[in-house]
Amino acid sequence: MSKEILILPGDGIGQEVTSSAKEVLGYLITEYSLDFNITEMDAGGTAYDKHGSPLPDNVLAKAKKSDAILFGAVGGPKWDNLGWDDRPEQALLSLRKELELFANLRPAFLFNELASASPIKNHIIENLDILIVRELTGGIYFGEPRAIVEDETPSYAFNTMIYNEDEIKRIAKVAFEAAQKRGGKLCSVEKANVLEVSKFWRSIVTDMAKYFPDVELSHQLADNTAMQLVLNPNQFDVIVSSNLFGDILSDIAATLSGSIGMLPSASINSSSQGMYEPCHGSAPDIAGMNIANPIAMIASLGMALKYSLEQKELADKIDAAIKEFISQGYRTKDISTNDEYVKTSEVAAILIGILKNG
Ligand code: IPM
Ligand code: MN
Repeated sequence: MSKEILILPGDGIGQEVTSSAKEVLGYLITEYSLDFNITEMDAGGTAYDKHGSPLPDNVLAKAKKSDAILFGAVGGPKWDNLGWDDRPEQALLSLRKELELFANLRPAFLFNELASASPIKNHIIENLDILIVRELTGGIYFGEPRAIVEDETPSYAFNTMIYNEDEIKRIAKVAFEAAQKRGGKLCSVEKANVLEVSKFWRSIVTDMAKYFPDVELSHQLADNTAMQLVLNPNQFDVIVSSNLFGDILSDIAATLSGSIGMLPSASINSSSQGMYEPCHGSAPDIAGMNIANPIAMIASLGMALKYSLEQKELADKIDAAIKEFISQGYRTKDISTNDEYVKTSEVAAILIGILKNG
């Protein structure tokens, strides 16, 4: 059956990096006669400018019917002063919630050739390979009630950090299963020393460990994990955490590899529908300059092939081609140590060349 792919380039460098991913996808479709149907639509600030909403109804409707969404990036100073519902980020948050993309997989790994690009000493990050499993549709991001109350003195604001047992079980299951396929270790991260919701989280995760006797489960407090990620990141295999802590920890983990432009992510639901996006943002300061690194977006296409499009072998080929690209010495500007670098628009052709030879 034909698979539906929706491409949402979004804003800033989102446009450039998705266009590279499209080139690679186009090559795969022709070469392997894939039955994929591709649609491209606006999202984020670009959609707001053209259609008056960061996620127009027809885009959301199309997303709901798609197997995989390739999402570039959204946001930029141009839209910073818009009201809450019009902000570009709403496109992301609504897609996550409406499609129930509860499992956010954020790998952080190092290509050893790029160790010098990391802010951390080489011996600490060598062979770095962590998977952060972040809960994406619950917790304080979406908890009710929430409000800014300005007609009282003093004025105040509040959010609600809330998880029910089903939400914790389903994300923990994804994380335990990922650990089974990787190094067999899972670290669950919360603030059980302060928050009821975290104490509850820990008890549910602990309880689930009995179904995964082959996984070594540990628990850490989020502030300590922030420190441990920098001091000794190789103690981690899979980390599972809530929406907010996962957001923060995944930025730290991505920074370790020195090249946020290399890291993909997947957000999937229980029917394997998924949204795939690079970890980097829209980088308005370099948008349109043809210097963005499209590898994270192309690697995200790889994750889409693996998790939503039933093409695991092609996903492996993309990963291998990216490795080869790096080991052959190609560097985009963000990871180049001298003045020489390949432009955004040149990367896909080089990767396709490698794919053809592999
Ligand atoms: C991310 C981003 C988003 C988040 C923002 C843009 C809403 O930081 O995907 O990590 O906080 O989830
Ligand atoms: Mn974030």
